[in-house]
Amino acid sequence: MASVLVVGATRGLGAALVKEYASDPTAITYATTRSEGAPDGFPDNVKWLSGIDLTNQNVGDNLSSQLKGEKPLDVVIINAGRFMTEDFSESGGPNWNDELTMYTVSSIAPLFILHRLVHNDRLKAGSKIILVSSEAGSITLRHEKEGGGNYAHHASKAALNMVGKLLSIDLKEKGIIVSIVHPGFMRTEMTKGVGFDKHWDEGGAVAPEVAAKSLVEWTETLDISKSGEYWAPRGPHFATDLFE
Ligand SMILES: NC(=O)c1ccc[n+]([C@@H]2O[C@H](COP(=O)([O-])OP(=O)(O)OC[C@H]3O[C@@H](n4cnc5c(N)ncnc54)[C@H](OP(=O)(O)O)[C@@H]3O)[C@@H](O)[C@H]2O)c1
Ligand SMILES: *[C@@H]1O[C@H](CO)[C@@H](O)[C@H](O)[C@H]1NC(C)=O
Repeated sequence: MASVLVVGATRGLGAALVKEYASDPTAITYATTRSEGAPDGFPDNVKWLSGIDLTNQNVGDNLSSQLKGEKPLDVVIINAGRFMTEDFSESGGPNWNDELTMYTVSSIAPLFILHRLVHNDRLKAGSKIILVSSEAGSITLRHEKEGGGNYAHHASKAALNMVGKLLSIDLKEKGIIVSIVHPGFMRTEMTKGVGFDKHWDEGGAVAPEVAAKSLVEWTETLDISKSGEYWAPRGPHFATDLFE
């Protein structure tokens, strides 16, 4: 009986992951929401942890205390993310508070959550941590043709990649596996919200349910030999194909 936690589970990929895991009646599926109480439209067997906001510095303790007395987690997927656009122009340049939000959610809160989960024995040898990053955080895949801009969204994912690498080293002796992933280009509110829906067709964007299935399969086959590595279970798409 697998037990899984999806952090940032209300919409998009997170919601699809929760539904995928909860479709197995033997699985225990925990899911987080920022609001109080469970959101609508999910199977009854999902266990909601409420008031979990990754901009709150107590988020790790809060989450961990809501899991007190529960059995250790086999899988933790940190999926929450924010994308607010920025450019380098005089008037539309970087916004301090937007940057704080993006870096905090993407690359600071995950570490604090995992620190509390590990030290409160919510994870055990063989547990798998999946950090949902993005190919947007890859320096190698960034070329001039895609342009600059969107500093905090892209750079906060690059920072998350390093957090994952360092965590894999710190958690190695405990036998806890860390995988950093690009889930694929998806048709979600995130990409629509930044105007990327105009690239959905040519960029091969998939429904989040499709990417969720790939990520669940990826997680099943994962072992310690890949800990600390960055992978794209569905392959890269967006940056490589779209701007040729
Ligand atoms: N979509 C893509 O093409 C794509 C590509 C590469 C990587 N990714 C990554 O995949 C992940 C999911 O993306 P998506 O497209 O499904 O995004 P989405 O539709 O915008 O959903 C984002 C999720 O994160 C939660 N979240 C945002 N800020 C939060 C906070 N401060 N505290 C707690 N939860 C918070 C949201 O909760 P609320 O409902 O409360 O806002 C929502 O459940 C993100 O990490 C994203 O960067 C996406
Ligand atoms: C978690 O945070 C929420 C929102 O701030 C709060 O309502 C709740 O009491 C906190 N729970 C715990 C166990 O700290």
